[in-house]
Amino acid sequence: MSSFYHGRRVLITGGLGFIGSNLAIELQKLGARLTLLDSMIPAYGACLENIEPIRNAVTVNFSDVRDQHSLAYLVRDQEVIFSLAGQVSHIDSMHEPLVDLDINCRSQLSLLECCRRENPGVRLVLASTRQVYGKPQFLPVTEEHPIAPTDINGINKWAAEMYFTLYAQVYGMSTVSLRLTNTYGPRMDLRNSKKGFVGVFIKQALTGQPIRIFGTGAQRRDFNYVSDVVHALAMVGESRLFCGQSFNLGHDEHFTLREFVELLSEKCPVDFELIPFPDELRAIDIGDYFADYSRFRAVTGWRPCVGLSEGLQRTIMHYRQPFETAA
Ligand SMILES: NC(=O)c1ccc[n+]([C@@H]2O[C@H](COP(=O)([O-])OP(=O)(O)OC[C@H]3O[C@@H](n4cnc5c(N)ncnc54)[C@H](O)[C@@H]3O)[C@@H](O)[C@H]2O)c1
Repeated sequence: MSSFYHGRRVLITGGLGFIGSNLAIELQKLGARLTLLDSMIPAYGACLENIEPIRNAVTVNFSDVRDQHSLAYLVRDQEVIFSLAGQVSHIDSMHEPLVDLDINCRSQLSLLECCRRENPGVRLVLASTRQVYGKPQFLPVTEEHPIAPTDINGINKWAAEMYFTLYAQVYGMSTVSLRLTNTYGPRMDLRNSKKGFVGVFIKQALTGQPIRIFGTGAQRRDFNYVSDVVHALAMVGESRLFCGQSFNLGHDEHFTLREFVELLSEKCPVDFELIPFPDELRAIDIGDYFADYSRFRAVTGWRPCVGLSEGLQRTIMHYRQPFETAA
């Protein structure tokens, strides 16, 4: 990584969550002057222990991205802003669609407006999601794939991306969105069972409960270890070249859910069973998904370095050790 971040003022919204805290730890090593914004809503992913290694080296601001008044102050003087705060549960987005709208869509527009007024030169990076594509019509999924989200979360993340693009086109602001696929690793939220199967399976393995795979287990997916995602975010945060564009992240390895569990079981022995898909999850499931990330690789040189076997090993090690000595 370059020396770009040395001495730079960086704001990470959702900075106490899974990806935000890993990003913060990496950028702190690179010498960034960090402010981490997080609302600490109990059901979401924030955890103070996540930033234990850098607790005294960063400014933590406990506020909510829905509060546009505090946001207007927080964006001033920042040089890079990573917008990672989010309601991340797809099923919760169906149960509480207006909360998802406020956090994942309205707050992103509010962030852009605050920046336009207070700090139009800032670089802005949005953590978007592969969920914007819905059920893939072809694989691997490229950025040209039709947008057809299967849930409220996907729609709101898509709208947020569109705002990011619009503010680049109309106001010349430096914005970029990365469409993340399943991301896993140390500091992921294992407390919330509604955040997707990866965390649920890892928690079940760690606690010795049989893993319950919905459906046939034949759904094929790609997975990024969190350090690879952090690297991608940091790379785009350095640049002004992306002008409102959106890029896929992904991995060359693809695994069925059943293969994922078998690999996990090699690191942390666990039984599994196949059970019928609950109706409300079947309705929003996207089936097979893996991304073509070649467009992002072409412009940045990024490619994932950590394979699933190694990444799961590191993740299991992390949760078996105290936070201070892990990862
Ligand atoms: N983890 C993945 O596999 C994945 C995949 C696609 C996209 N993403 C996106 O990446 C981002 C980070 O996800 P994560 O996995 O680290 O989730 P996470 O839940 O661990 O982190 C999200 C953070 O945002 C904070 N937050 C939520 N609402 C907030 C609000 N109103 N104000 C301030 N803070 C708020 C939470 O407290 C939490 O710390 C999210 O925007 C998510 O949609 C993640």
